Amino acid sequence: MRVTEKLSTAFCKDFNSSFEDVVAQFLVKSRLLPDEESLTSTRFLSRSVLPHVLRLSELFNRLDIKEVEAAPKGPQGLDEYWAKGSNPANLRLAYFLYFMPSNLFRVAAIWNELLRLGYRWKTSGSLRAIDFGSGPATGMAGIAAGEAFSTERSGMPVTGNWALIEQDPAMLKLGTKWVSDFQSEFLDSEYALQWETRPFHRKIAFDQPTLLPPKSPKFHLWVMSYFLNEVSISPKQLATILLETWKRHLEEDGIVILVEPALKEQSRRLLEIRKEILEQLSDDPWLKVLLPCLGHQACGALAKPEDWCHEDVSWWRPSYFKIIDQMAELDRKSLPFSYLVLYRGKSSIEDVLPKLKNSSPDRRRLVSPAHFEKKNWEFYVCGQDGKFKARYRATSKDEEKTAPANRGDILSNPHSEKEDHYLRINKVDTIG
Ligand SMILES: C[S@@+](CC[C@H](N)C(=O)[O-])C[C@H]1O[C@@H](n2cnc3c(N)ncnc32)[C@H](O)[C@@H]1O
Repeated sequence: MRVTEKLSTAFCKDFNSSFEDVVAQFLVKSRLLPDEESLTSTRFLSRSVLPHVLRLSELFNRLDIKEVEAAPKGPQGLDEYWAKGSNPANLRLAYFLYFMPSNLFRVAAIWNELLRLGYRWKTSGSLRAIDFGSGPATGMAGIAAGEAFSTERSGMPVTGNWALIEQDPAMLKLGTKWVSDFQSEFLDSEYALQWETRPFHRKIAFDQPTLLPPKSPKFHLWVMSYFLNEVSISPKQLATILLETWKRHLEEDGIVILVEPALKEQSRRLLEIRKEILEQLSDDPWLKVLLPCLGHQACGALAKPEDWCHEDVSWWRPSYFKIIDQMAELDRKSLPFSYLVLYRGKSSIEDVLPKLKNSSPDRRRLVSPAHFEKKNWEFYVCGQDGKFKARYRATSKDEEKTAPANRGDILSNPHSEKEDHYLRINKVDTIG
């Protein structure tokens, strides 16, 4: 996946970004930070933020599908984690400072990728969007940033509203206020948005036929960021309830964005959900898989029990984030994640993503980094016929030095040939 330079530098002070100032002012106003200087104070961060970042990190990483599915009331420790702990305010502060910006960036990167492939907004009128398990309105802010910091815009409406659904009232309140400042104080000079929020304090139940009450409207855009891995039902049940919900509450030409952790168990769970969705759609594919797969092929990663699929995007971190990273011995210079983008409508994938039009049916996406090995660049690709180890022979000294493509790139017409244990790529033209 390629991210525009504008987006990758948007949150870092070294590039004149006001993000950290807006964050600091907002947190002081919200009484979560004693003063603006505390945001870069090692003493404050190490005492009040670091222990919670470590705790949340451990909690999120520990989450395992088997544990999720076995637990009658959801995974131990993650369910309603906001209410627990000795200092819930600092726990929320830690999430806000560390996990919110990174998830925001992931969502923005996915929106950037859609725009890069030529996606344009089709429906008229104001926006109706929904952010499920919104936390601090991360999904909403991510779409706003993705649109603001792209080279071409989708033309989505600048007016409209977002329903924020969240079980934790304090996080919901924080998110509602934050996203208003995010638009007016941070994005305004780049992109003037007037999106409003409709906060819903609700614990979504998964034992109903759909996730929303029948009178809820239809939405143009759905975001679920780091939400589904907290849900304790099987991928098959999840697919059934999601499809029923989207059937009733997703507009024609609407888009669904699901973002999940890059960890093997959680990533495979998303691949299982994709598989179940496609199986249930086999008679009437009213939803289409746009990204990352660009089609409905059987998942190549799921074919092997030890495999999974994830993206990785690089960004310039906010300076306080770098300090937390150093103290926590974490290194979030790049952000891994798994994702799925679906589209409801009659248009073909090429009509929704017109930059694909010049590609051949043999187009393939790189799903790993590229390594140089004995005159060849080696990487894994995914295409309509599955996932393969691929080789491209460097034809010059320059080609030996720089990888011809990177994880997430789409090879538009690779002239590929199957050889013994791999796919020979003869041509590298990337889209976008
Ligand atoms: C890991 S956080 C992700 C927050 C946000 N989407 C982001 O990407 O930063 C998951 C959020 O989902 C909320 N959540 C989990 N299960 C929920 C449910 N059944 N109903 C409503 N909210 C839920 C949690 O309270 C939490 O705020």
